[in-house]
Amino acid sequence: MSDTVSRRSFLTTAGKVSFAATMATTATFTAKSYARVLGANDRIGVGLIGAGVIGNEHMKVINNLREKNNLLPVAVADCWKTRADKGKETIGAQHSFVDYRKLLDLKEIDYAIVAVPEHWHWTMTIDAMDAGKAVYCEKPMTHTIPEAQAVMKKQKETGRPLQVGVQAMSDDSYITARDAIRKGVIGKVVQAQIEYVRRYDAKAGPWRVPAEVAANTTKPADLDWSAWLGSAEKRDWDPHHYFEWRCYSAYSGGICTDLFIHRITRIMRACDLLYPRRVVGMGGIWQWPDGRDLPDNIEMICEYPRGMTVYVLGTMSNRVGIDHLIRGYRGTLFFTPTGWVAKDKDGKVLAEHTKTGGEDQNLHHTNLHNHLRNGEALNCPIELGMAGVVAVNMANESWRSSQMMGWDKENQKMVPANTLTMSHEPEDAS
Ligand SMILES: NC(=O)c1ccc[n+]([C@@H]2O[C@H](COP(=O)([O-])OP(=O)(O)OC[C@H]3O[C@@H](n4cnc5c(N)ncnc54)[C@H](O)[C@@H]3O)[C@@H](O)[C@H]2O)c1
Repeated sequence: MSDTVSRRSFLTTAGKVSFAATMATTATFTAKSYARVLGANDRIGVGLIGAGVIGNEHMKVINNLREKNNLLPVAVADCWKTRADKGKETIGAQHSFVDYRKLLDLKEIDYAIVAVPEHWHWTMTIDAMDAGKAVYCEKPMTHTIPEAQAVMKKQKETGRPLQVGVQAMSDDSYITARDAIRKGVIGKVVQAQIEYVRRYDAKAGPWRVPAEVAANTTKPADLDWSAWLGSAEKRDWDPHHYFEWRCYSAYSGGICTDLFIHRITRIMRACDLLYPRRVVGMGGIWQWPDGRDLPDNIEMICEYPRGMTVYVLGTMSNRVGIDHLIRGYRGTLFFTPTGWVAKDKDGKVLAEHTKTGGEDQNLHHTNLHNHLRNGEALNCPIELGMAGVVAVNMANESWRSSQMMGWDKENQKMVPANTLTMSHEPEDAS
């Protein structure tokens, strides 16, 4: 069977409908392409890269779904050998590695979970796709916009499935809200608001872990620090950077990329949004000026071409939130702990939905398993992952540079908004 034919049959089996047409003619596969044609009952081989905080949550999911979803835990990789070895034990995998590329070399692995700090997401995702793997990549899909574009290009070339780890996309509240909004339940949508608020210990502040830093003032002997840094600026071992990477822009976008991505993606899904037209981010390092270079309090407002704004409140100093809601001319859709309810201006219920699941990684992985086996649509596909990265990076850049950022559609990049000519009317019919 020729490579083209076998790839085509994989595409049919895995339901890669949107990419199938281009794939048949443009796909190029490296010698390392191992993508298997998965039957409905085939066992799915899993490899985990990154055995830190969320890596351990993925291990729980793997153990939880192993029988039910017929999974084979094949390998765990972490540049801290102790963590890789412990991870291997936890999920009963066959291998552990310090170098993640060795994991990608294993043909038993159908999909790789990328659960490392943000600055490594794009490289590992691209390497995994080149090796023929499907990918579950933790949010944000990438650290920067150009990295997201490189992942998009690779995904189009290889056709490998990518589930972005915004697990709330497997909570059916957002897709059902989208359907209701499309039907006009709340009329013309003009505004949405959502938040991520937390209150951290006054001494430590957000994302500081003093106990772990104190216990590791000397680098653990079996931790490959150079591998952890990757393409980031070389520096001597610094436990603050290793354990508290969310405080530093070399590895993270802080509140915007770590937390807002969860929230903005919900509104994007519910309101059919992709790239914003203009974004402003405001905030500061107001409560914990402790050497971090990312804000501990920030808010962002995104304006979208359909003619609506989305306000995202974020503070790490106070946990009083605001309602998560979408405003339309006819009514308001409120997200609730059990789903959503849409009400008109007098409080009369227009429609409501009780969710069937929740913000659950088990559901999100199962969705990827179903995608690989029978082509179920991915709940957080690359397009959504990429558009989220664009919005939160524009907010951070706005904050950093004290200007409003705009999305240059023609050149697919963020630029100062005042360099673009913009209409003040909706650009599409929705
Ligand atoms: N979906 C969610 O709700 C959620 C929650 C927490 C974290 N996350 C995301 O998960 C990712 C990891 O976050 P975390 O809190 O687990 O970080 P962490 O620092 O606790 O763990 C990251 C692990 O990756 C390993 N690692 C780093 N570079 C590596 C390399 N080159 N090769 C192999 N291993 C490497 C580290 O040694 C570490 O063990 C981040 O993208 C974060 O945003 C998502």
